[in-house]
Amino acid sequence: MPNPPKLIEKIEEHIKTHLTKHRCEHVLSVRDQAVKLANRHNINSNQAELAALLHDSLKEVPSNELLQYSKEQEFLMDKYEEKNIGLLHGKLAPFFAKNQFGIDDEAVNNAMRKHTTGTADMGPVDKVLFVADFCEPLRRHTEASAVRTLAEHDLDAAAFEVIKHKIRENLSKNRIIHPDSFKAYNAMAQNCTEGNLQ
Ligand SMILES: [Fe+2]
Ligand SMILES: [Fe+2]
Repeated sequence: MPNPPKLIEKIEEHIKTHLTKHRCEHVLSVRDQAVKLANRHNINSNQAELAALLHDSLKEVPSNELLQYSKEQEFLMDKYEEKNIGLLHGKLAPFFAKNQFGIDDEAVNNAMRKHTTGTADMGPVDKVLFVADFCEPLRRHTEASAVRTLAEHDLDAAAFEVIKHKIRENLSKNRIIHPDSFKAYNAMAQNCTEGNLQ
């Protein structure tokens, strides 16, 4: 059984009227990619679809409003989120999904919370969104298409490539890296390569 069509229509309508064209196209493309990956790897595609459609709902909300929203929802920021308010858009997405659409599914919520940084304990839906957000076909860079191909047969290996890319990108720009990204990297390295500390 797919997600209720009326609910999906409502979310799509919201996306189309509240996000810029560019972001809206990205979100719809992440949805298609996430559903495709979920189906391919026998993962719940309804949860993947909802997480994908809602993951960037707050991405374009100005910092001061995000801060206000986090106070209203009594969300406790960590010190990295305090310094990089942009990280909040994923962490607050579950509150938005519940308040706006009555969606309260822990698998959907976790995928949205983890989609920017990754975490050490990523489940199947988390990985689907993490990978789909990076490799949806509108992302034109070469790494995206390599990950898209890899994800067709190995979702774990694809997620490992995504976290490595994100960490490298942050390093190259001298940005602070959220510890959850390092934890995600270590967990995936252990899984994918049986990596040992050198
Ligand atoms: Fe995002
Ligand atoms: Fe995104």
